[in-house]
Amino acid sequence: MNPTLSSRLRDGTKQAHTAAENTAFMKCFLKGIVEREPFRKLIANLYLVYSTLEAELQRYADHPIVGPMYFPELNRTANLIKDLEFYYGDNWQEQIAPLEAGAVYVNRIREVANSDPALLVSHAYTRYMGDLSGGQSLKNIVRSAFNLPPDQGTGLHDFEQVPTVEARRAFKEKYRLALDSLPADDDTMQRIVDEANAAFKMNWNVMHELEDDVRLAIGDHTFELVTKQDKPGSTERAPGNTSVELVAAE
Ligand code: HEM
Repeated sequence: MNPTLSSRLRDGTKQAHTAAENTAFMKCFLKGIVEREPFRKLIANLYLVYSTLEAELQRYADHPIVGPMYFPELNRTANLIKDLEFYYGDNWQEQIAPLEAGAVYVNRIREVANSDPALLVSHAYTRYMGDLSGGQSLKNIVRSAFNLPPDQGTGLHDFEQVPTVEARRAFKEKYRLALDSLPADDDTMQRIVDEANAAFKMNWNVMHELEDDVRLAIGDHTFELVTKQDKPGSTERAPGNTSVELVAAE
């Protein structure tokens, strides 16, 4: 039997996922080193990415491949605006600007929306499944690093309509089933997997561009110490079969 799209995506992006987890930015993050400036720049860039993606998903809500993968309950734009108000203040719009890698990412979403809209599925999968999975661990790290008041500063990873570990697990199952029910032929599935890899790389590039800010904030010595070791990737295992420290959040 041919592998399903959900398993082709998971298997086909394993290495890209491992690389994303092993960026210096993420390694610092997982050690609880979250610097305010690079973090809010990340939020700003993800706002630009998500607002573009969600407008395009909505534009193609009737498309046979994009439509079934549009889940408005996952939309992040409104939550990211709250985060930007929190980290930058009311005049956040005057303060944020895309990083070079962020601009490339946003342009690519616009480009595929116009030329091959089925590939919006790759961009939705890469971000939403990530935010519903490892993103939940990152949320707890941000909360404790910044000693945040409840319900502020973690909008990116607050899924009000998918609020518990069980609900997120069930939702991810539903999402995988929706992927596997798409009317996509083999060639389209391959293009979706290839574009998901490109989306991972674009996330890698955004985080890489933020590394200098982290290094500056914590100093060369600590930066080298924290980032020298690679860890095995979280999606190298079967879905849901997660390491102990991630179980509570995932
Ligand atoms: C330190 C950073 C990260 C950690 C600790 C992490 C952790 C995880 C874990 C534990 C899972 C597995 C959930 C399951 O088995 O159902 C997962 C899945 C996933 N992550 Fe990450 N992740 C990280 C970064 C990222 C990044 C940067 C992206 C992309 C922007 C991403 C995208 C995904 C996707 C798409 C999946 C779903 C895989 C699938 O089952 O098809 N992750 N992540």
